[in-house]
Amino acid sequence: MKKESNKLKENLINSDFSVKGECAISLILTKLDIINIELSMLMDRSVIQLKTGRMKSYESTCKKLKKKGLEKNFSNALEKINDLIGVRAICSYVDDIYRIAEILSEQKDVKVIKVKDYIKNPKDSGYRSLHMILEIPIAFQGGTQWMKTELQLRTAGMDYWANLDHQLRYKRGRKEAEVIDAELRECADMVGDLDTKMLEIRRKIDKI
Ligand code: GTP
Ligand code: MG
Repeated sequence: MKKESNKLKENLINSDFSVKGECAISLILTKLDIINIELSMLMDRSVIQLKTGRMKSYESTCKKLKKKGLEKNFSNALEKINDLIGVRAICSYVDDIYRIAEILSEQKDVKVIKVKDYIKNPKDSGYRSLHMILEIPIAFQGGTQWMKTELQLRTAGMDYWANLDHQLRYKRGRKEAEVIDAELRECADMVGDLDTKMLEIRRKIDKI
């Protein structure tokens, strides 16, 4: 019998799951394109600057299962990890994020499983983004399967902070950790203030 971790690897790479996962990514990216086109026509500006999608790697899935204290098998990964399939969209302004979230939520072929608002309630680290756990139907001839996908909506500022935080996280020395964490939190707050300020400026201009 094959080891569970081998089966996990097989299921994450080159499998029915990975193919349907890629389809779910394409579908959400297209939905975001359509929303961007519609809102761009309405508002005469782009609301989504950039979007990416990825399937979580085997290595990163193992790391997350370990962090959660779970055994390395596919059913744990499917059940307990929300971002095996992930999409991220960088939006122009904070209000665009909520508008996009609302439009998606109203679509018949999108099930919203969970929303985590780390913009209104930033994480202790300072992390900000709107996370939506969605289920998207992928129709194959054998039947339709609803694929769980994590969508992260954030501004360019939030993305800039998250990327540098992610890089630095692995390099933070234990001794200096507290001071550095506090400094990073301060930077995250500055980014939050900047987003608020830019939104205020845009609203002033919208009124003209
Ligand atoms: P994780 O086990 O960290 O994924 O937590 P979770 O399953 O409760 O999900 P959560 O919504 O809190 O976070 C999921 C994702 O958000 C992570 O995989 C990261 O992409 C991002 N994220 C969350 N917190 C942070 C943070 O403090 N810094 C950075 N850079 N990214 C974060
Ligand atoms: Mg993740």
